[in-house]
Amino acid sequence: DKGNYRHFMAKEIAEQPEVVGHTLSHHLDMSAGRARVPEGLDFAALDRLAISACGTAFYAGLVARYWFEKYARMPVDIDIASEFRYREPPLNGGGLGILISQSGETADTLATLRHCRQQGMQIASVVNVPTSTIARESDVALPTLAGPEIGVASTKAFTCQLATLASLVIAAGRARGVLGADDEAELVGALIELPRLMAETLKLEPQIEELARTFAKVQDALYLGRGTSYPIAMEGALKLKEISYIHAEGYAAGELKHGPIALVDEKVPVVVLAPFDNLFEKTVSNMQEVAARGGKIVLVTDAAGAEHAGETLKTLVLPSAHPFVTPILYALPMQLLAYHTAVFMGTDVDQPRNLAKSVTVE
Ligand code: M6R
Repeated sequence: DKGNYRHFMAKEIAEQPEVVGHTLSHHLDMSAGRARVPEGLDFAALDRLAISACGTAFYAGLVARYWFEKYARMPVDIDIASEFRYREPPLNGGGLGILISQSGETADTLATLRHCRQQGMQIASVVNVPTSTIARESDVALPTLAGPEIGVASTKAFTCQLATLASLVIAAGRARGVLGADDEAELVGALIELPRLMAETLKLEPQIEELARTFAKVQDALYLGRGTSYPIAMEGALKLKEISYIHAEGYAAGELKHGPIALVDEKVPVVVLAPFDNLFEKTVSNMQEVAARGGKIVLVTDAAGAEHAGETLKTLVLPSAHPFVTPILYALPMQLLAYHTAVFMGTDVDQPRNLAKSVTVE
């Protein structure tokens, strides 16, 4: 049931503050300010982690890599599922494999799960459908409580995957002695704030809809980010191409001058994801390289970032947030921009051409 919404995707975008809140209350002990440790996972005994998934779920894994490395000092090997098992990485019979999947039925992800199992790894999965094959075949199934996701473009499942992985990272950081009690309380506090900040961010929708009028007329778009904003740039590009059929690419901002800057002219909008964090200045200098070549910039930042940025086509000002949670927050304007662009173009938003909700062939 779409309720009062025109598309399932719109409804699913709007539901995010609520379902992310549910997901977090499952994985965190909010009153104690602690992350719950999933039964059966011993992070102190692990020396490595392998993460694999497809599409949007893979981007959630890429964000989690930054988190596991920074907050749990854990080496992470990550690859898309259709590559992981053919790469023949030396897994040495140990470690934990984490598979991420909304449907829990994606063929490549399931095959990778079975491959990791054969190599003697313990298996955890982050899944939205608790009865799915991937959930059933895992040693530990970590649920995302997004509720059914109908739109082919994944939205609420993605932010719930990130909320689940963020909670897991905190548990891992504590178990490994990297996060002290104060650090843990700080990160849990940042997650507890998140649903409110997401609701605040969704209020940018009228501005984003206006911007989408411009996007509906372009042929190509670039998305740039650094650190945890880099996977969100790729997610933004995937969302746009899936439902509006506009060619879009997400790049690490630092890679711009190694090739993609050749594409920049006044016809190609460049979406720059830059919360005001320790990477901001570097990203803004990449942004200026784009501006110098006539590129139209859409800057997605917060109030402090907006103050330090030069001229742009549009600056979207998000609430300021702890750097730990910005990737979750910055996913929302990416979804809204893709959605409204597709609506202006008149495409079938919930059932885009050539795509299936669950890809059960390899
Ligand atoms: O069900 P899964 O999470 O395993 O699906 C993985 C991808 O097929 C999926 O995320 C796909 O990329 C979406 N259409 C993205 O919006």
